[in-house]
Amino acid sequence: MVYETIPRTVRIILLGEPSVGKTSLILSLVTEEFAENVPPKAEEITIPADVTPEQVPTNIVDVCLTEQTIEQVAEEIEKAHVICIVFSVDRQETLNKVASYWLPFVRDNCPDDYRKPVILVGNKIDLIDYSIIDNIWDIAEEYPEVDRCIECSAKTLTNVSEMFYNAQKAVLHPIHPIYSIEEQE
Ligand code: GTP
Repeated sequence: MVYETIPRTVRIILLGEPSVGKTSLILSLVTEEFAENVPPKAEEITIPADVTPEQVPTNIVDVCLTEQTIEQVAEEIEKAHVICIVFSVDRQETLNKVASYWLPFVRDNCPDDYRKPVILVGNKIDLIDYSIIDNIWDIAEEYPEVDRCIECSAKTLTNVSEMFYNAQKAVLHPIHPIYSIEEQE
């Protein structure tokens, strides 16, 4: 029997193709303003319990493939409780890579009997005037670990805190069972 208990801290990791806005989302959350120039990778951030809606200390981890090896990224996935896969709503190829690369990669680095929750994050909605949410149903159906999809903008701060809140909630109030029982004879 494998138990995944509710953790006392929440560790959130942001993955996705280069330039989709991972670092910008983290820095917009923390500073409450958009900076045009951000470093390639944000330092790991700890948000104290008393300023999170769920009152749980939360670590946020950025990933940058030009600064990290894929093995280091895999190790970060293993340590995380919830995975945010970010794509850019104005670049269809970044959403294609969510299904063709990132979701399988996350699965490969999670235990077979416990799939960590995944939030799909469509960033840069300030650049388009339509919703891309209809494009993700097939993905969500194929990958039930997808807890939800959220459209946001690091630039206008739209849904940025909601995105991190939803990631917290996916860990603390999972939709899927928090433990799985291996098939027993
Ligand atoms: P890597 O470090 O290559 O992995 O990129 P990243 O995913 O961390 O993206 P980053 O935050 O560096 O942003 C890439 C570019 O997109 C920068 O020029 C940002 O200013 C821009 N950007 C990020 N978020 C938004 C957004 O919500 N709207 C718009 N219009 N631009 C954004």
